[in-house]
Amino acid sequence: MKRIGVLTSGGDAPGMNACIRAVVRYALNKGLDVYGIERGYVGLINNHINQMNRRSVSDIIQRGGTILKTARCDEFKQLEYMSQAVDNMEAYGIDGLVVIGGDGSFRGAKDIYDNFGIQVIGIPGTIDNDLAYTDYTLGFDTTVNTVLGAINNLRDTMTSHDRVCIIEVMGRKCGDIALYAGLGGGAELILVPEVPFDLAAVVKSIKLNQRIGKTSDIIVLAEGVCKAEELKAKLKEQGVTGSIKTTTLGYIQRGGAPSNQDRVLAAQFGMRAVDLLMEGKGGRVVGIRDNKIIDEEIGEALKMKREFHTDLYNRSRILSM
Ligand code: ADP
Ligand code: F6P
Repeated sequence: MKRIGVLTSGGDAPGMNACIRAVVRYALNKGLDVYGIERGYVGLINNHINQMNRRSVSDIIQRGGTILKTARCDEFKQLEYMSQAVDNMEAYGIDGLVVIGGDGSFRGAKDIYDNFGIQVIGIPGTIDNDLAYTDYTLGFDTTVNTVLGAINNLRDTMTSHDRVCIIEVMGRKCGDIALYAGLGGGAELILVPEVPFDLAAVVKSIKLNQRIGKTSDIIVLAEGVCKAEELKAKLKEQGVTGSIKTTTLGYIQRGGAPSNQDRVLAAQFGMRAVDLLMEGKGGRVVGIRDNKIIDEEIGEALKMKREFHTDLYNRSRILSM
């Protein structure tokens, strides 16, 4: 292995820059040449590839987003475009690729490994924490802290006005952002896609909280359940009285300086990815399990079924009463 490429793909996540920095500097230290590919698979197809040096990644460890930019690229699902991407890599002499992204990006990585034998390593970069083989993905911790800050702010004003607040958070089909931020923020109720939605139970909880004298009621709602406004309308239909406000946090959750936990994870993931490429072990993804950095065959990792922390979820209810 002499030359490697690195790209970020899918939704950006805080810590991607810290990870690019780790890959570039560690690989250079090991005597490899490193190329940055712009806008994920779009750049690979369109030949937007630039050589990187240690200074290319100066002053980025603390920045959210990704200096390599990111994109979603439907063409990459077709063999014809994938083959063009591989030709471009070959023209540069790039024989290993680090893909930082979520499960969609990993499917693309698996495809070029399976079909063209490109040595590829996936690094989990997504705020959603929706990959089964790893306890944490890059960006998740930062996002949870961003949501936590929002819950704190909203709590202040909701308490002052004796209001109910529905806070809609991201996560696609995964409720981890809602669970962790809701638990940390002392939410009265956390609604996630992994647990069947029970409108009667939500109504009962709000009414109980009003009766026992709670001065605010924070409901953290994962986007995979429904929209905040839809839930509000249903609650009104069910005769819930009092003021109900909604806040959809949106893209604010994806930006911002990465937490130290995400920066450390970025460094560990980046270094393991380069080590694997140097050992000729392509077709793998890196992760963290039980506080240890691990790697897994990419196909196996994608097949694993995510387990939601149901016990933690159920017990969080006890603390919010
Ligand atoms: P994420 O990586 O955050 O899950 P997406 O699901 O949008 O984001 O996937 C990012 C990109 O990965 C897609 O735009 C596409 O280029 C590529 N991709 C996704 N699924 C596949 C697939 N089945 N085969 C090949 N490439 C894929
Ligand atoms: O997968 C990350 C994520 O931020 C999800 O939480 C969210 O639903 C989605 O991406 C938004 O994607 P887009 O950038 O396409 O609007």
